[in-house]
Amino acid sequence: MPHPHGPHEHEHEHDHHPDGSHPGDAPRPLRRSTVGPEGILTPDVDGRALPGTWTRGFDFHVLDRAPLTASRERQAHDAADLLLLDTLAGWVADGRDPGPVAVLHDQHGAVTLPLLAAGLDVALGVDEASAARSTAANLDRFRDEAGALPPGWGRLRIGGVDETVLAGARTVLILLPRALDALHLTAARVARLAAPDVLVLAAGRDKHMSPAMNEVLARSFTHVLAGRGRAKSRVLTAAGPRPGVAEPEPRRRVHRITGVGEVTLVGGWATFGGAAADPGSVLLARTLAEHSPALPVPAARRMRTDSGLEVQVPFRPVPGAPDVVDAGSGNGLLAVVAARVWPPARVLASDQSADAVASSAATAAANGLAERITAVQDDALSTLADGSVPVVLLNPPFHDGAAVDPSVGHRMIEAAGRVLAPGGQLWCVWNSHLRHRPVLEAAVGPTRQVARNRTFTVTVSTRRP
Ligand SMILES: C[S@@+](CC[C@H](N)C(=O)[O-])C[C@H]1O[C@@H](n2cnc3c(N)ncnc32)[C@H](O)[C@@H]1O
Repeated sequence: MPHPHGPHEHEHEHDHHPDGSHPGDAPRPLRRSTVGPEGILTPDVDGRALPGTWTRGFDFHVLDRAPLTASRERQAHDAADLLLLDTLAGWVADGRDPGPVAVLHDQHGAVTLPLLAAGLDVALGVDEASAARSTAANLDRFRDEAGALPPGWGRLRIGGVDETVLAGARTVLILLPRALDALHLTAARVARLAAPDVLVLAAGRDKHMSPAMNEVLARSFTHVLAGRGRAKSRVLTAAGPRPGVAEPEPRRRVHRITGVGEVTLVGGWATFGGAAADPGSVLLARTLAEHSPALPVPAARRMRTDSGLEVQVPFRPVPGAPDVVDAGSGNGLLAVVAARVWPPARVLASDQSADAVASSAATAAANGLAERITAVQDDALSTLADGSVPVVLLNPPFHDGAAVDPSVGHRMIEAAGRVLAPGGQLWCVWNSHLRHRPVLEAAVGPTRQVARNRTFTVTVSTRRP
């Protein structure tokens, strides 16, 4: 989508001289990038070419998307990452001292690692466990056999989108989150915690941006300006934290769900759906309440010995393993449903988003279930042992960053198949147009439909021994 609040993308970038002038232009006085009482002047304001100081020599193709699924269409870096780095290089070329640098929501380190390579120390703040894992793994690709980074590289600290990363930051680079609520939370945190003279550069792909993002930033900053854009990407610049900006409080809403009763949902601003009850999860909740299934008793596992004999190994509970896992728990609705449907069960609400984990825990407490529901941050159930769980509930995610990508859901289905005990069940709800069924059959086992409405399908898959 074009960004109506920004000037037009300059299409003839290559007509610029290295100093940024157009051929045949009369020399113009150089205007330096500044933040002043009259507003912001960004490095691209005159149509000057941005310096490629940190992007030219960096080998972006070393970066990988793991642990997210590899995809031919998507790489671990994109044009927004490069524009963000070149824009900051423009500010620095114009004399700005970046000071302590924080990078937020960088999914694979495509902004963080070139800055480290340039010798800057970086504090990376991410909400998602997979982003922390991916960036750390990409950093490892640059280490030598002894585990050392090339000489001159800066130091990396990885944390949440919180005080540990933002306190005193003078430069904050943001890869724009998809949801406006999440951006509002991020912007308010930056305004509250970063240095008063912080420069915020927030980049995204035009197709994932809207003018509403400027308005959201303007709630936390006195100055906000959209750049010209390059390669279908754009940088929004913000400065001047508004005094006394408060972080938005998590929302609370009470829902009445047939067969389940009243459920209070607490949803943070970076949590999927906030405090709303997702309609797919409501169908799964009603279906579970209606069927009221017994907790499956895990079956023996078939094993072939070295001498070729087939033996049955009885299921041995893994100490501390939960009875039910709400995989990708968001605001924790399905964890509460599980605790109500299976009264003695110990339920684990697991999500890779720190904000979602806080929401799930708050929802458990709001429904008097804090004793039976534990919330943890984890990427794709990685901390659970293979074959250890009798039931998994799943409303699979479908976003990879700002893009819709069914492979993130497939990854969660595969994770459920791994952690389920033989004979265990995956109760899954999905948008009927998605092709999840073959993945459920392959990754878990025989799958049957138990409910369907105009939009969603609920299936139960039984883990094959
Ligand atoms: C469609 S939402 C469902 C949320 C909640 N269960 C509900 O029913 O409202 C999917 C959830 O999966 C989480 N998620 C996405 N990728 C994940 C991953 N790799 N590991 C764990 N959780 C993930 C998202 O943060 C999101 O909360």
